[in-house]
Amino acid sequence: MSDRITQLRSDFDFELAAATAEAEATLLRDRWVGRKSGLLTAEMKTLGKLSPEERKTVGAELNVLKGYVEAAIEKLLDGFAAKREAEQLAKERIDVTLPGRRIPAGHLHPITLLRHRIEDIFVSMGYEIEDGPEIETNFYNFDSLNIPANHPARSPQDTFYLAGELADKLALRSQTSTMQIHAMQKRQPPLRVAAPGRVFRRDTPDATHNPMFYQVEGLLIDRGITLGDLKGTVEEFVRRLFGPETQTRFRPSYFPFVEPGAEIDYTCFKCGGSGCRVCKGSGWIEMGGSGMVHPNVLRVVGIDPEEFTGFAFGLGLDRLCALMYGLDDIRLLYENDVRFLEQFT
Ligand code: PHE
Repeated sequence: MSDRITQLRSDFDFELAAATAEAEATLLRDRWVGRKSGLLTAEMKTLGKLSPEERKTVGAELNVLKGYVEAAIEKLLDGFAAKREAEQLAKERIDVTLPGRRIPAGHLHPITLLRHRIEDIFVSMGYEIEDGPEIETNFYNFDSLNIPANHPARSPQDTFYLAGELADKLALRSQTSTMQIHAMQKRQPPLRVAAPGRVFRRDTPDATHNPMFYQVEGLLIDRGITLGDLKGTVEEFVRRLFGPETQTRFRPSYFPFVEPGAEIDYTCFKCGGSGCRVCKGSGWIEMGGSGMVHPNVLRVVGIDPEEFTGFAFGLGLDRLCALMYGLDDIRLLYENDVRFLEQFT
């Protein structure tokens, strides 16, 4: 091998060893075997100046060297490409054994959960569930419910009236008892209806008051219905809601649309009646109002009070929900803070 070729090869080997990055390898290729300015390409061009003898041997040696250079660079470039691919794969590697990411699913609001439970109980006792208007005329809010003209419930201090032309005529219902009238206008007795829904009162919000809250009204009209039926129904209701040991008691009370009227208490679902924090030591929790539907109310909807009698009772959901979930402020229910709401599934 000629000295020249030996020198070229050792120069190349030296440069090859120094090429540690892909870009350097590409430069090395251009520098040595590049079509225009490659060292070996130039070397080939000098062959013409040699004698035919020399041209043959040097030409052959140059070709061998060129093959060697090309192979070495290709191998080097292949190495870099393989490394690049391996790195890419490592970066995009998917661990198929990792558990999937769960899509967070929402759930129903605690009041809705409680309402559903209560609706289920009513349905199981033969009641139809009915929805009704939140804005009512004075007829539904007051007159039909036997509420006298000067009753404080009619005052705009207690009730939200609509503004403008309809002021004095339309107001947000302050109790679901309005549904008694709708239910009886829609059906002939005997009937059983439960009506859950929102009611509105001009209360100053605090831990136990909110201007909007939920009630459920139960109404049953049939022949020969007595206070005993009311008591039995309410007792069965709270037993299905809180358990078979639950007791009830009635305290006489006044509501214009019933006669007689009573407040219902039930034994605390937490302590069973011995007294605890939930029932504030009394053993009893207030459920709501009740009574025998007033004859005047039956007459308003064309039901003969001599033929039919019935009872109604109402309960508030918000305070009940707060008691059951141990909330110290019912307003939490309406702040729409998911960190709070997500605790009640
Ligand atoms: N509507 C009454 C209230 O909001 C409760 C009630 C319902 C009383 C049915 C008697 C009969 O306090």
